[in-house]
Amino acid sequence: MSLRPTLETRAAVPTLEGAGVKLHRAFGFQDPSELDPFLLFDDFRNNNPADFEKGFPWHPHRGIETITYVLEGTVAHSDSLGNTGTLGAGDVQWMTAGSGILHQEMPHGNGAGQMHGFQLWGNLPSHQKMTAPRYQDVTCDAIPEVIDDDGTRVRVITGEFWGKTGPIDGIAADPQYLDVTVPAGVRKTFRIDTYRRAFAYIFQGAGAFVDASRPSGVLLEKEIGGEELNIRDMSGDRTLVRFGSGDEVTVQAGPEGLRFLLISGAPIDEPVAWHGPIVMNTRAEISQAVQDLKNGTFIKPAH
Ligand code: FE2
Repeated sequence: MSLRPTLETRAAVPTLEGAGVKLHRAFGFQDPSELDPFLLFDDFRNNNPADFEKGFPWHPHRGIETITYVLEGTVAHSDSLGNTGTLGAGDVQWMTAGSGILHQEMPHGNGAGQMHGFQLWGNLPSHQKMTAPRYQDVTCDAIPEVIDDDGTRVRVITGEFWGKTGPIDGIAADPQYLDVTVPAGVRKTFRIDTYRRAFAYIFQGAGAFVDASRPSGVLLEKEIGGEELNIRDMSGDRTLVRFGSGDEVTVQAGPEGLRFLLISGAPIDEPVAWHGPIVMNTRAEISQAVQDLKNGTFIKPAH
């Protein structure tokens, strides 16, 4: 077993998106090899409806997958193929845009006006960029949750974990998407297959991912739960943690516990040509997509 080092710990950045939605971006529109096969991660938690209800009106996607996970409030979705639906708390929509869709995504707060959810973009390999669009809408009750003896809870959205398999399938990047809650003071290790690229996004409480790779001069030694650990400063809400190679990560939960997404997938390792919500391999393919939008041929008729 080898512990994955923490390559970087950074705060999500306030960002304005869509028609004026105030959200926090953990990564996106930067070096796409950094977290390949993932391109972007947004946290759209907000307690002020005026800051999110303008939503994400009609826009195209091609060449990627968008994964929406709602924790509070709802997201109403409709697209150019005639699909409509509403995601509620705990629901997931895994949309494979493939050859192209035009859609809108409109968040609404819960009874208290609160909205919380995440959107992740996964890349598609060249041979699947023009695949037929596909939706996997999963309701909260279809997502298995495993609870360990120490109270650690893991919702398995996709991939296999502790004997459970998430309900999403057939995804190119072979992702594992876990929603993990570790109780106060507990130290927990999670296995992540070596071939995967991995990150965590902390969104509740605080904790420290143990990093054995740091030279001792950089390490902070703290006593938590009666054990002295080599850990970095505790990371809290809206923190992205990027992991290096290895086959497991260990987190030490702080005094209030912590909740984070633990996401990993197989790198695609292909050239990336990125134009807003369209991500292809070459500039020529981007030009083609823009031309298709102009010509009204972006959406391929259903077979
Ligand atoms: Fe979208």
